[in-house]
Amino acid sequence: MKLRDKKPDRNGADQANAIVLLEADHLAVAELFEEYEDARGKQQKSKVARQICLELSVHTMIEEELLYPVCRGGAVEEDLLDEAYVEHDGAKMLIAELLAGTPDDEFYDAKVKVLSEMIKHHVKEEEQPGGLFAQVKKADIDLDALGARMAERKQVLKKEFLESGIPAPTTRSLSGAAVEHGVPLEAPAHA
Ligand SMILES: [Fe+2]
Ligand SMILES: [Fe+2]
Repeated sequence: MKLRDKKPDRNGADQANAIVLLEADHLAVAELFEEYEDARGKQQKSKVARQICLELSVHTMIEEELLYPVCRGGAVEEDLLDEAYVEHDGAKMLIAELLAGTPDDEFYDAKVKVLSEMIKHHVKEEEQPGGLFAQVKKADIDLDALGARMAERKQVLKKEFLESGIPAPTTRSLSGAAVEHGVPLEAPAHA
């Protein structure tokens, strides 16, 4: 069954507490990845990929601006939080590639697929029992107030990105160590 067929009521998610809001975002992005798999034609693929990049850019920003900072200092295990930052940054590398590319590019579909797998893993780390969100729920954090701030910030960011374009992602943990850009290698010639 497709995710969109068993979609819970997302109306009112903007009024929800922080965790409900973020989990609704996760579901929305999972649906977009399914939509990409069903998409036929470059125009449709490009449109859905752009929507994925928009949703993920906003989502990572609100988590990094509003949730992750209050997780420091004991609310969430430090290792788990560090990994969350690195997972976000790994995803941002692929988001940047998709934003700069088109479905005509070699590896474009693969980049979308691998991004979906990275996000699936990251969402599991956040949502699973004992995971980041479970630890947040146990901590002394006002999730309703946080949810309200997130909903407000989401609206502002979405409007901005739709009007001015999605900005290049900002990493929080990867330091920009240089890589050489190459191409797949040919099979070696047999002597
Ligand atoms: Fe996250
Ligand atoms: Fe998340």
